[in-house]
Amino acid sequence: MKIESVEVREIARNFGTPVYVYSLEMLRRSIAEIKELSPVTRYAMKACSNGRILQEMRNQGIKIDAVSVYEVQRAQRAGFKPEDICFTSDVFFNSEDVRYCLENNIFVNCGTLGMVEEYGRAWKEMGKGKNAISIRINPGEGHGHSKKTNTGGPYSKHGIWHENLNDVKQIAEKYGLTISGVHMHIGSGGDMEHLKRITARLVEFAKQFAELKTINFGGGLPYQYDPDRPQEDITGYKSILAERMKVLDSHFGRKIICEIEPGRRFVAGCGYLIGEVRSLNHTYDENRKRLDYVLTNVGFCHLIRPMAYGSYHPIWFVGDDLGPEQDIIVAGPVCESGDVLTQENEEPVARKLPMPKAGDLMVVGGAGAYGFAMASNYNTQPLIAEVVVDGDKATLTRRRQTLDDILREESEASA
Ligand SMILES: Cc1ncc(COP(=O)(O)O)c(C=O)c1O
Repeated sequence: MKIESVEVREIARNFGTPVYVYSLEMLRRSIAEIKELSPVTRYAMKACSNGRILQEMRNQGIKIDAVSVYEVQRAQRAGFKPEDICFTSDVFFNSEDVRYCLENNIFVNCGTLGMVEEYGRAWKEMGKGKNAISIRINPGEGHGHSKKTNTGGPYSKHGIWHENLNDVKQIAEKYGLTISGVHMHIGSGGDMEHLKRITARLVEFAKQFAELKTINFGGGLPYQYDPDRPQEDITGYKSILAERMKVLDSHFGRKIICEIEPGRRFVAGCGYLIGEVRSLNHTYDENRKRLDYVLTNVGFCHLIRPMAYGSYHPIWFVGDDLGPEQDIIVAGPVCESGDVLTQENEEPVARKLPMPKAGDLMVVGGAGAYGFAMASNYNTQPLIAEVVVDGDKATLTRRRQTLDDILREESEASA
């Protein structure tokens, strides 16, 4: 098996396992596809903040959606200019966030009334920075691939409730702020049906803001992780957005800028996680049915999506003589029963795969989005390396963490 022109075996040999690998060719393909949809496209960098990926986004004219001031600064260090970055702080600002944005001319998207208040107060006090803001609206409904990634509706903490738009106007007026942007992001891993309906709602809310310059319809573009099923067709989004913009442009009698900010759809498909089969185990259920476990060095400390959401990721084994296909549960090294890669509806399930042996390699697909970005040191597992493949070249872009790296921070703190 190859990633672009590089053998998976060669990557494992040169960089060790587990290792995240990103294909630039696939990334470029998804950038080209997504760029078609909207005049301004931001990348929700929370999905994968690898520096080489950020650099590619920048080269291709993609702007940034950052959800923490750390992400803002990371984007700046990757070469993005302040005017390319929009900061959507989750539901409040940390202590120095507003000061940083005002001092560095970062455009801020406020997701609660309190945030508008805090920004306005700081802007008055400091007398510098942008007096125009965007507001994130909770349109009253949301949709994601799981309840945990649904960020709209009454049970989501996100956004200014759509019935409170007069309140937000009053706060903005009190401080002399202009609301030049409206934004919504109803969830991650959505579908086109929901996006179609909800974009129309946002347009109606947006009409209420006389000084509107931009409307941002958020991310949430669908991505099909199963390579045996047709990929989700997102091309129709272009005409949906164009229709929405026609309504807005004619309402205001001027051109309003249309933005979207997907994360997953940009990077999910370009990322692979290569691991190694370490061992096998089996149990018997109540009916004496044998359950076969393939034990690998890839755990939820490296890729949490199956454990957190029951998400599907394709798995391939790479070995010289793989056995016949049979029901296999693929598990990892973390000391918890939930550390299983093959899950459905948050339950471990067996999947038909060719039986590998210890020492064979495993490749997990669809690992580019919310993969490394959500990795942790749980079980004192060091963070793993990241490699970028471009044609026949594989380059290390992040070295593997060591135990010393982890302990150094601890001992520096207690010194
Ligand atoms: C504010 C915001 N915008 C965009 C995104 C990207 O979502 P997705 O990766 O589903 O496109 C997210 C992720 O949930 C987000 O929180």
